[in-house]
Amino acid sequence: MISFKNLLCTCRSMSNRCGGQRGGGGGGGGGSGGEKAVTMQNLNPNIIKLEYAVRGPLVIRAAAIEKEIQSGAQKPFKKVIRANIGDAHAMGQKPITYVRQVLSCVILPDLISKGDFPDDVKKRASDILNSCGGKSAGAYTVSHGIEMIRKQVATYIERRDGHKANWEDIVLTAGASSAIKNVLQLFVNNIGGKPTGILIPIPQYPLYSASLAEYGLQPVRYYLNEDKNWALDVSELDRALNEAKSNVNVRALVVINPGNPTGQVLTRENIEELIKFSKKYNLLIFADEVYQDNVYAEGSKFFSFKKVMKEMGSPYDQHELASFMSVSKGYMGECGLRGGWMELCNIQPEVQANMYKAISSMLCPTTLGQSAVSCCAMPPQQGEPSYELWKKEKDAVLGSLNKRAKMIAETFNKMEGFKCNIVQGAMYAFPKFELPPKAIEAAKKDGKPPDTFYAFELLENTGICVISGSGFGQRPGTYHFRTTILPQPALLQEMLDIFQKFHSEFTKKYA
Ligand SMILES: Cc1ncc(COP(=O)(O)O)c(C=O)c1O
Repeated sequence: MISFKNLLCTCRSMSNRCGGQRGGGGGGGGGSGGEKAVTMQNLNPNIIKLEYAVRGPLVIRAAAIEKEIQSGAQKPFKKVIRANIGDAHAMGQKPITYVRQVLSCVILPDLISKGDFPDDVKKRASDILNSCGGKSAGAYTVSHGIEMIRKQVATYIERRDGHKANWEDIVLTAGASSAIKNVLQLFVNNIGGKPTGILIPIPQYPLYSASLAEYGLQPVRYYLNEDKNWALDVSELDRALNEAKSNVNVRALVVINPGNPTGQVLTRENIEELIKFSKKYNLLIFADEVYQDNVYAEGSKFFSFKKVMKEMGSPYDQHELASFMSVSKGYMGECGLRGGWMELCNIQPEVQANMYKAISSMLCPTTLGQSAVSCCAMPPQQGEPSYELWKKEKDAVLGSLNKRAKMIAETFNKMEGFKCNIVQGAMYAFPKFELPPKAIEAAKKDGKPPDTFYAFELLENTGICVISGSGFGQRPGTYHFRTTILPQPALLQEMLDIFQKFHSEFTKKYA
């Protein structure tokens, strides 16, 4: 079996190998002979530090196993089940017809005149094309997105929150990831010799730790309260901030709601406390709300930070907020199209202008991603030809995710040594499990964190790929993994059955 160390090397890829074998000399400058200009010795250290578990060693090994199976290797299973990443289409979810019809017409405008598509599809595609340079999706758009679609997003937000949204404060982006990075970049500035600290949840979605590492920003970790279904205790935020503030300037708070990997949905009261906390310490709020349509549990409801802030009145309604949304999640699951947006509230106009300037150097998000945003923000309305089918497909996806969310938590809670909080929202479960001392010893010998050892054993023996808790962060001495709820129902049932069997064999083996 391939060693964990080798996998890490593969993960860090070509540069590692070149540096190890040939890169040689430090400094850099274009030497003669076969020396590389970029080596492991002179590579940006922030890139070396950066880790992104959801595409890390476990996933690389899963891909290698798939190749081994294709080339006839005998395994105790026939396929890899990828429960490692929130990519609904990769796990068999079908696209929403309306979205794909609009995109087809945008990319091949002949379909508007000749194709057999509903009138509202043709109209939307024509409107988008009329907003593109030369009426072609092949032209660059304005850097922060097509004006018509930014206005549609503003209308979506106004309907959602019941409060005015200014379309000029909406930026269309290549997925929420690039929007989040655009805002993080604003904080790269060591004031008074101290780096900027950003409060991030633990467990967290590793985009945050990876981007902070990339930009040389310091994570200030606050723990979510697992015993209270991953609620966010303000006292814990206080602890984290006060412990960090002698070394870093804490300047922003990241909140993921609904949570990834933890699946919680924050209450309105909790959001109010967070806004008050942010105001007290002058922190810009990153409200990562990409799962706003993915709320399942009875009694849970999504409240946007913008809505709560507005309704708290002065001075809170003047607080700095950046909120993020994506077409990758929700019921569309269009991860590969790379469409998303952010809304900026109460950012100093000069700062916002500078951010727009920085964004403009990337030219623009893809026109297809922006078109998907248009469909997400302004879906067919009742009475329009596409409405019934769109509604049926949307309800079917969200209804099925709801059942799968329940099924997964129920199954894990039946397993010995497991405790899984209910999945109130998003697309993941993050169960805690106990490991027998002998398994912990075996992990040590193998050079892996114990939960990573477990996840590798699971993968090698069953083909199920989950990501160990250490990739997201967890309280020391606890063990978790993240699984998505995305395998289609029959596959999910199969996966959970195999999982249960594996766990009882694993427990016996290391008893
Ligand atoms: C909490 C959270 N934020 C942001 C993203 C990035 O999404 P996108 O595909 O829009 O870049 C993800 C993706 O899984 C996520 O889970």
